Amino acid sequence: MRPSCAVSVCHVLMLVLCLSAAEDFDWTKDEHGSFYYGTFPAGFSWGAGGSAYQTEGAWDKDGKGLSIWDVFSHKKGKIQQNETGDSSCEGYYKVKDDVSLMKELMLNHYIFSISWPRIIPTGIKSDHINERGIQYYDQLINQLLENKITPIVTLYHWDLPQFLQEKYGGWQNISMVNHFNEFANLCFERFGNRVKHWITFSNPWSVAVEGYETGEHAPGLRLRGTGAYRAAHHIIKAHAKVWHTYDTQWRGKQRGLVGISLSGDWGEPVDISNQRDIEASERYVQFSLGWFATPIFHGDYPQVMKDFVGRKSAQQGLGTSRLPSFSPQEKSYIKGTCDFLGIGHFTTRYITHKNNPSGRSSSSFFTDRDVAELVDPRWPDPGSEWLYSVPWGFRRLLNFVKTQYGNPTIYVTENGVSEKMLCTELCDDWRIQYFKDYINEMLKAIKDGVNVKGYTAWSLLDKFEWDEGYSERFGLYYVDFRNKNKPRYPKASVQFYKQVISSNGFPNQREVENWRRKAVETCSSSNQLLAAEEQRSTAANILRLIHDPLTSHMEMVTEIVVPTVCTLSILLCAIFLMFLLRRRN
Ligand SMILES: *[C@@H]1O[C@H](CO)[C@@H](O)[C@H](O)[C@H]1NC(C)=O
Ligand SMILES: *[C@@H]1O[C@H](CO)[C@@H](O)[C@H](O)[C@H]1NC(C)=O
Repeated sequence: MRPSCAVSVCHVLMLVLCLSAAEDFDWTKDEHGSFYYGTFPAGFSWGAGGSAYQTEGAWDKDGKGLSIWDVFSHKKGKIQQNETGDSSCEGYYKVKDDVSLMKELMLNHYIFSISWPRIIPTGIKSDHINERGIQYYDQLINQLLENKITPIVTLYHWDLPQFLQEKYGGWQNISMVNHFNEFANLCFERFGNRVKHWITFSNPWSVAVEGYETGEHAPGLRLRGTGAYRAAHHIIKAHAKVWHTYDTQWRGKQRGLVGISLSGDWGEPVDISNQRDIEASERYVQFSLGWFATPIFHGDYPQVMKDFVGRKSAQQGLGTSRLPSFSPQEKSYIKGTCDFLGIGHFTTRYITHKNNPSGRSSSSFFTDRDVAELVDPRWPDPGSEWLYSVPWGFRRLLNFVKTQYGNPTIYVTENGVSEKMLCTELCDDWRIQYFKDYINEMLKAIKDGVNVKGYTAWSLLDKFEWDEGYSERFGLYYVDFRNKNKPRYPKASVQFYKQVISSNGFPNQREVENWRRKAVETCSSSNQLLAAEEQRSTAANILRLIHDPLTSHMEMVTEIVVPTVCTLSILLCAIFLMFLLRRRN
């Protein structure tokens, strides 16, 4: 009698647990299914994106102030090959050209960011407003709207005005909250009649961790164990303040939406039957996405962050946690400040538990988590070292967001893959594969009930990739950075993505395979043309380096002599032919 009784009590308990946890994320579900043919809901928005410092160039033109990235990239040894974003894609001068590329792709929306120092050179609104900077964004917004492309505008994509960094210590200082709010308010005032989708911050995790903890990004500070938490704390408050500003001052007239864009890898337990691995995976995701999303949706940091950082701080003999805390008023002010959630996602890791020693000297954001990251060597990694293609992780992440934050409206704001190529390559078959599989997993997530309203391929153009310089290319369009005109060339993935957009998904296997075959066929001839063009410009550059006077000679050879010789040969051939024909007669 006894054992069976215990068993049935267990059953009842389990049932109760299951019912109460109906909206919990199921870590043990194995969701690696086959390709799903089908279409997206009507009105699904397809887009591409980029950001100001990565694409605009014109770093010191028309009254723009310096940003922390201008200063950081000009320091030697910070960026691959000591490259800078000084001219980058020259997007500042190519609004019409670039919008026509978007039109060619049939995009519904485009994500770009506003450079804060371009419109407020010192970052402090009462100092000076740069009208020429405002004109540039006016022109871009109008051009998009004329072409029926919805602008989705990011207010902060990492380029803080340098003056604010020097005077206040940037995001380490609470005063950023008000300065950022003033800047955002100016953007709502000037652009809000036309812009209805605002993103306060793009990937604040990177701003906090790489800017203020590891120092790999601008401003390059290494405040281990404290810098990232402090920066994030101020960023979250700044986000909330800007949302409230919009809500109280502009929403009535402008009827737009304000969200934030969070980037995060998926963390999959190494062993889904091991509770410690599951807990470690959850910590991994909470220390990235949850760090920002939990305060914004639930009013406070994830419990597991408070527990872990708090315990480690105590072990280090600190009186208070290195993770700052919100007051009750702040919690209710921050909670619910999100009209939509932007998700940036690129890759996945396997996660397991790892104990880190908690000495004071070793304290850091990374050791606070007590996790180890692993990758499967079979995962393809065509480009950036960190970017393994693991499509099913995307569906898992989207489902996690749905269960954790009450099924919010989601826009995928960044998803894509880079390539690391020394030679020119427009035939990016692996990027087609990546987009095909990741977009398909997003479609499955929508079938699971996740509320995804739009998707943004990252990125429209090859561009400056922060500390990686120009060594990694994420673009649908290839940019020839060695040519001072920065010409753009479509990669094969342009043709493929365009087909996905015009069919609003994947109609059937035969058609999808056809798109792919055609895209790769047409790229090979443009590839050869571009390679020849690049060889010519490289040859000219080498000559220019060796001996300057030769340059003009070289240009004369290619620009005057070659066409002249060609024309003359054609003429001679024609005369010779006529002569032959006459003789026959
Ligand atoms: C970058 O600058 C540093 C410091 O001047 C120098 O040592 C290094 O060789 C430079 N790298 C390249 C690729 O020019
Ligand atoms: C913030 O800026 C103010 C004004 O410059 C300064 O007095 C204060 O020390 C700064 N705080 C931090 C943490 O840097």
